[in-house]
Amino acid sequence: MAILFDSTSRLFTLTTAHSMYQMKADRYGVLLHTWFGMKGSAFDYSYRIAYADRGFSGNPYDAGDDRTYSLDALPLEFPAYGSGDYRAAALKVRYPDGTSACDLRYLKHEIREGKYSLPGLPALYDAPDQEQQAHETPAPAGCGSRSDTLIITLEDTRRMFYVHLYYGVMEDLDIITRAVCVENHSEDDIYLENIQSVCVDYLHGEYDLHTFYGRHVKERNYQRSPLMHGSQSVGSTRGTSSHQYNPFLILSDRDTTEDTGNCYGFSFLYSGDFLGNAELDQYNQTRLLLGIHPDNFCYCVRPTERFYAPEAALAYSAQGLGRLSRIFHRAYRTHLCRGKWTAKRRPVLLNDWEGVYFDFDGDKLIQMARDAADLGIELFVMDDGWFGKRDLDVSGLGDWTVNVKKLGCTLKELSDQIHGLGLQFGIWFEPEGINEDSDLYRAHPDWAFTIPGKQPTRSRLQLLLDFSREDVREYIFSHICQVLDSARIEYLKWDLNRSLADLYSASLPAKRQGEVMHRYVLGLYDMLEKLTQRYPDMLIEGCSGGGGRFDAGMLYYTPQIWCSDDTDAIERLSIQYGTSFGYPVSTMGSHVSHCPNEQTRRITPLNTRATVAMSGTFGYELDVNKMTEEEKTIVKAQIREFKEYYDLIQYGDYYRLTDPNKVEAYHGWEFAAPDGSEALLCIVALQIHPNGPGRWMCLKGLKADSVYLVHGQKYPGDALMNSGLLLPTATEEYESFRLHIVECPAV
Ligand code: DGJ
Repeated sequence: MAILFDSTSRLFTLTTAHSMYQMKADRYGVLLHTWFGMKGSAFDYSYRIAYADRGFSGNPYDAGDDRTYSLDALPLEFPAYGSGDYRAAALKVRYPDGTSACDLRYLKHEIREGKYSLPGLPALYDAPDQEQQAHETPAPAGCGSRSDTLIITLEDTRRMFYVHLYYGVMEDLDIITRAVCVENHSEDDIYLENIQSVCVDYLHGEYDLHTFYGRHVKERNYQRSPLMHGSQSVGSTRGTSSHQYNPFLILSDRDTTEDTGNCYGFSFLYSGDFLGNAELDQYNQTRLLLGIHPDNFCYCVRPTERFYAPEAALAYSAQGLGRLSRIFHRAYRTHLCRGKWTAKRRPVLLNDWEGVYFDFDGDKLIQMARDAADLGIELFVMDDGWFGKRDLDVSGLGDWTVNVKKLGCTLKELSDQIHGLGLQFGIWFEPEGINEDSDLYRAHPDWAFTIPGKQPTRSRLQLLLDFSREDVREYIFSHICQVLDSARIEYLKWDLNRSLADLYSASLPAKRQGEVMHRYVLGLYDMLEKLTQRYPDMLIEGCSGGGGRFDAGMLYYTPQIWCSDDTDAIERLSIQYGTSFGYPVSTMGSHVSHCPNEQTRRITPLNTRATVAMSGTFGYELDVNKMTEEEKTIVKAQIREFKEYYDLIQYGDYYRLTDPNKVEAYHGWEFAAPDGSEALLCIVALQIHPNGPGRWMCLKGLKADSVYLVHGQKYPGDALMNSGLLLPTATEEYESFRLHIVECPAV
């Protein structure tokens, strides 16, 4: 059992393969956080806490005249607002009498075999399904799916309110999950004004905070900064996890590198508003909180009702950021993504968006599909523009009826012809969106988020449907199903092209309007769940104007997400680099597009565009009919090569070798087989210099005492890892190389 409870000291010790997490209900029943980090003996780590008389940090009444016991100075597992801890709180409620102070004490706990799940919310699961196991590259020795659950119940001293802290201990995956459930035992409504899913207090240490910021067409830029006294936070109040900040944060020691040092990853499985906050306090203690952003949130918990705060996944690495990422990669690939496409080979696709935008008819698409089939592409995706009155992005959203006039045929006829060419067929939807110029809006203007008496905020000239409402969701769901049932469709792209604003739901009373954002996300999950249940074989790709909703919550429903609307290969280097810290390449939608690039006008070699796109879910997004014969020959070879390396890329261990934002010459990354038997080294020359110096790259994840073959030359593994491989000389800017490194058979 990975969960130990010592009833004498009331000590909870949770262990995974390499990490340990510890809490203790102390003599007052306060749940202390005593350790998260390196695995060690189940010793009581509360010995590290220094008790002292702290001025202006008060004492709980039951501590009597002990002035050394202050919640304000203690490492707390789930700090509540208002009872003497003045740091950022994990919980703030509003009781029927208008007060907010809450004093949580340990009541009981329960240990269960297996991993808990959460009603209506994404959560890591412990057993990969049979099909997944059959396809998955053999897991490293000892990697099963063993998980246990601990639920600790805290009660407010006024006994109106209970907090159940959920812990999933995923031993082999090296992951600990957390979630929270609160229960109202009073006779009146209790309002939740803030509930964070995670709080981790560090007694000492100097930390860096690593976050991922961005904007539309430039998501998940990596930022590392030392923690200063006070709070540093990232978050979203856009109703989605957002392009601007990602709900994945890392705390590390100051000297932690890619390969060495302590670091702690915090990933939120939620697709709406979030807040990640790191606070360095007056005693140089650090508190990390992650949960729903409180700004748009106030949830009424009725008597006897429960509220579940979403799950967060935590991981610790003593071997730097690279290993931390690989922990999340494996866990998300195998225990978060679901369904047959999780481990089944995904098709190489052609998406028509950057090729033709809204300017197409059925014949044009068939022509593209014909060339695509010839190139070895396996799936043809018809993006935006096939429905309602939709020849531009100003109208038609919400009218999910096929525009037969524009296509010149029915959807079934189009799909049949595409299948006749040997391709699968996919289609784009933006289920949450609605244009004012649509039949749906004319019939149901109140279904869109608008505040009575206020002009709505438009974005891309569209509004959003109130997905917190079941009737709205049911309508959209049934119309989507009608389309999906009318033809053979194997893929669906679920897009969303604006942030939420003007939150108001006609279905809720004034005092419950603070629930709308969260209910919207629950509505989204509900619809995605129904979709995945009804179409279990369909590959669903998430998207929000590129990577505006690239989060672990969405990955529970959509095993891949379009990474960014920026398809420029060089821009993509930093976008995919940043994304790789928290998410596996198998989730990153990535396509080869035409040049000059649509977003940057940059020209990059076709080979380089493929090197970058292959490090994700590989596809093309251009008008194949406009390609030269020479380009077509290159593309055919790329697709063949991708299929050859598929398992290595998608299931191998991913290593960041350089930081594209810092490197001046060659940027590199690598996929290594988990057993070290082969690797694929990817290099992009960011600058070339005539008569320049030699360039070397040190490989990772090989066997030091094995011999490897690279381009017909033999090298010892330790030389490749310690001294590096001399790289080919780039002769044009942005040239790239893909080098296969294979272990020689032992003689
Ligand atoms: C935004 C997406 O990111 C694009 O790939 C494309 O689907 C457009 N929306 C269509 O409107």
